Amino acid sequence: MSIEMHSRRRFLVGSASAATLTAFGTGGLSSLSAFATPSRLSDDGGSFVPYGAAVRSDALSADSSYREAVIVNCQLVVPESELKWLELRPAPDQYRFGKADAIIDFARQNGIRVRGHTLAWYGALPKWTESIATRADAERELTDHIETVVSRYKGAIPSWDVINEPLVDWPESAASLRPSIWARRLGPDYLRLALKATAAVDADAQLVINEYDVEYAGARFSAKRSALVQLLRSLRDRDVPLHAVGLQAHLFAGRTIDRDGLQSLLTEIKALNLDVLITELDVIDRELPSEIHERDKLVADLANQFLGAVHEVIRPKAILTWGLSDRYTWVPIYFKRRDGMPNRPLPLDADLKPKPLFEVIEQFRHRA
Ligand code: G3I
Repeated sequence: MSIEMHSRRRFLVGSASAATLTAFGTGGLSSLSAFATPSRLSDDGGSFVPYGAAVRSDALSADSSYREAVIVNCQLVVPESELKWLELRPAPDQYRFGKADAIIDFARQNGIRVRGHTLAWYGALPKWTESIATRADAERELTDHIETVVSRYKGAIPSWDVINEPLVDWPESAASLRPSIWARRLGPDYLRLALKATAAVDADAQLVINEYDVEYAGARFSAKRSALVQLLRSLRDRDVPLHAVGLQAHLFAGRTIDRDGLQSLLTEIKALNLDVLITELDVIDRELPSEIHERDKLVADLANQFLGAVHEVIRPKAILTWGLSDRYTWVPIYFKRRDGMPNRPLPLDADLKPKPLFEVIEQFRHRA
C-alpha cells in the first residue's frame, strides 16, 4: 500500500476514533477493517456508487470492532429496525426516538449518510395500530406519523423507503396490495397519501418504493415485476411524488436470476424517469454447500450475476447490503442452515474479514 494511502487511512481511522467517543460512548478503533473506503463520495455523479449497510443500534453501541468496520467501509447506513413503527411508537400518543437518534448521531459524527426505513409497511407495526377503526383515523395516524418522523430528521435523512413491500407475493395486478391496516382502511390510496405527506414535509427527500422478489425466473416473480410496473405507472399518471425504486435484492441461492425479466423491469423504471437503489442486498445461502470457500464463492457469483444484469441497464444511486457482517444478520431468523452452520450472507464475515462478495460489490461500485 502506498504511503499516501496509508496516511489517509490512518487519518480516517483517527477521525473516526475521535468521533466514536461521542455518538456511542467511548471505544476507539482497535484495528482497521481490510477494506477502508478512502473517501466518502457523493452519489450525485460521483465516480463511485456509494456503498452502505443496515445497522443495529445495540451492536453499534456494544461492539467497537463492528462500529469501526461500519465507519471505514460505509458511506451510507440504514437503521435495520429503529425507524419502524414497532420501535418508534410504543403507544398511540408516544414516540420513542432514542435508538434512531443514536444511529443518526453516530452517522453524522462520522460523515456517513442515512437512509430512512420505513414509513408505510405491513410489518413491524405495534399492536395498537390494529384498532385504527376508520378511514379518517388511518389517514390521520399515517399522516401524523410521517409528519412527525420526517420533520424530525429533515436534513439528516435525505432518502426514505416511504412504502415498503406494497404487493402480495404473487400479485394479479397493481391492485393486489399486501394486506395491512393501511390497505384495509385506505385501499391503494395509502401509497399516494404516504408519498404526498413525506414530500410535503421534506421537498428535498428522495422518495422510494422498496420491493423484493423481482429478480428471479418464474411465473410468480414475473407477475410481481408486472404488478410493480403497473403500480409505478399509476402513481406517475397521477403525478404522485416518487423518485426511485428500491430493489431489496435478498438473493436466494438456488433460484435463477431472470436477466431478461429483471432488465425489462429496470428499462420500464428508467422510462418512468425513476432512479434505482439496491437497498437490502444479501445472499440467503441455506441451500449452498457447507464448505466455506465454495459457499462464499457461490454467494459472490450470484451477487455478481445480479449486479451485472442491473449495471447493463442502469447505474444504481447506491448499493446497500442488509447488514455489513455475518456477525449481525437477519437471515437465520427464517433461513437457518440444515447443517447448523452459521449463514454467510454478507460482505464481511463474522470476524469482519472481507469475503468474495465484498470484492464483487467493490468492483461493481467502481465501474463507470
Ligand atoms: O428489539 C427486540 C428485543 O427487545 C427482543 O428481546 C427481541 C426478541 O423478541 O426482539 C427484538 O425485536 C426484533 C427486531 O428485529 C430487532 O432486532 C424483532 O423480534 C424481529 O422481528 C425484528 O426482525 C427484523 C424484521 O425486519 C422485522 O422488522 C429484522 O431484524 C430485519 O432484518 C428485517 O428487515 C426486513 C426489512 O425491514 C424489509 N425487507 C426484508 C428485511 C428482512 O426480513
